[in-house]
Amino acid sequence: MPETLTIMDNRTGRTFEVPIEEGTIRATALREAKVGEDDFGLMSYDPAFLNTASVRSAITFIDGDRGVLRYRGYPIEQLAEQSTYLETAYLLLFGELPTNAALARWSDEITHHTFLHENVKSLMQAFRYDAHPMGMLVSAVAALSTFYPEASQVDDSAIRMRQVVRLIAKVPTIAAWSFRHSRGLPYVYPENDLGFVANFLSMMFRIAEPKYLAEPALERALEVLFILHADHEQNCSANAMRSIGSSKVDPYSALAGAAAALYGPLHGGANEAVLKMLTEIGTVKRVPEFISRVKAGEGRLMGFGHRIYKNYDPRATILKQVADEVFEVTGRNPLLDVALELEKIALEDGYFVSRKLYPNVDFYSGLIYQALPVAMFPVMFAIPRTAGWLAQWLEGIQDPEQKIARPRQVYTGADERAYVPIDERRSATLAVTPGA
Ligand code: ACO
Repeated sequence: MPETLTIMDNRTGRTFEVPIEEGTIRATALREAKVGEDDFGLMSYDPAFLNTASVRSAITFIDGDRGVLRYRGYPIEQLAEQSTYLETAYLLLFGELPTNAALARWSDEITHHTFLHENVKSLMQAFRYDAHPMGMLVSAVAALSTFYPEASQVDDSAIRMRQVVRLIAKVPTIAAWSFRHSRGLPYVYPENDLGFVANFLSMMFRIAEPKYLAEPALERALEVLFILHADHEQNCSANAMRSIGSSKVDPYSALAGAAAALYGPLHGGANEAVLKMLTEIGTVKRVPEFISRVKAGEGRLMGFGHRIYKNYDPRATILKQVADEVFEVTGRNPLLDVALELEKIALEDGYFVSRKLYPNVDFYSGLIYQALPVAMFPVMFAIPRTAGWLAQWLEGIQDPEQKIARPRQVYTGADERAYVPIDERRSATLAVTPGA
């Protein structure tokens, strides 16, 4: 069976053959379909990349129909059970699990780069008292590029790796300080004798105690959350990271852009919507009525459905268990019962079954983060995703097939027309009235 596709251009009657490689055809192969010598050739139109692979990647594998997620071949369930965030970050970045010695060196390097220049602290302190922590994070990460001008040398592998270490180490410090700022609390400096997650919790919650020691069950829960959120192949923010990085700008600027993409409610903000929905439903008794409203098209069941997963999101299965472990320490959140009832009814209901709508990662993560202000939710997502963004960036920057990302367009505007002097214009439509 030939691995080719035969295309017949009905405009010209010409037939041509296009090779199929790894389940794809090259979009540029379509350019052979042209009606004349100076015709540019056919393009594919794919808003929102619904059916376009923009990269070849060896980092994360997702089989959405079967609910499979693997980092570098390792199932997410095994990593969540046995790994740590720093080890997982190493795996994503370097392709293999570290040896004992490599992990010790890696952890040591990250630990020794957690401090921020004092001027970054001043910069963060200059924000308004009620600044959104995600806005602070995006700005402070972008500002880091001015502290490390060498970072612009993205073709130097040693310099690249230095920025990777700095970003993984410093993003949690920025994240914690953005939270402290919103509370009007003094910023807490990193502690080098604490592990990655314990140090983050200390920077978040330490008040006057000489040493902040996190509850081990909560520390482990956060470690698992960080592992689950570390990468998710070509999602909106990873695509932003690669696209911005393709201009060869420094990784701080590219990562600030990726974090900005994550800030949007359709990406990093869905768990906030889940919490809001659960609070509005309030009690188990009101679940059937809510489900009926969703089925009647009056809103969505937040935390359900996914562009890629048409099965249970494997991260949701793990998080359901993590939520139980967290609630054993913090006390059971009554909204968990509402969530469980919603899930039970939805998984049996024809509307959700026929549309293959299952719980996604956000269905339970909001409940676990409930002790934090919702504005911190995307920040909590950005900390571990830094490893994924950097792995995607490194792969992109070293891929000889990649060039500056520059999509085509289908132009739908006016044809050429002559400039009209202002006094001769009869009418103009403005979307916004000046001065209004
Ligand atoms: N509740 C009710 N109906 C839904 C839901 C939902 N959560 N999600 C999809 N549907 C329905 C749609 O109405 C549509 O029905 P129709 O065919 O009768 O019109 C059908 O299922 C397909 O939905 P689409 O919107 O075409 O699916 P898409 O792949 O574009 O959307 C998305 C995926 C955005 C995640 C969607 O399922 C949704 O809005 N979910 C709720 C928000 C959410 O949880 N987002 C977090 C995603 S995970 C993450 O980003 C980390």
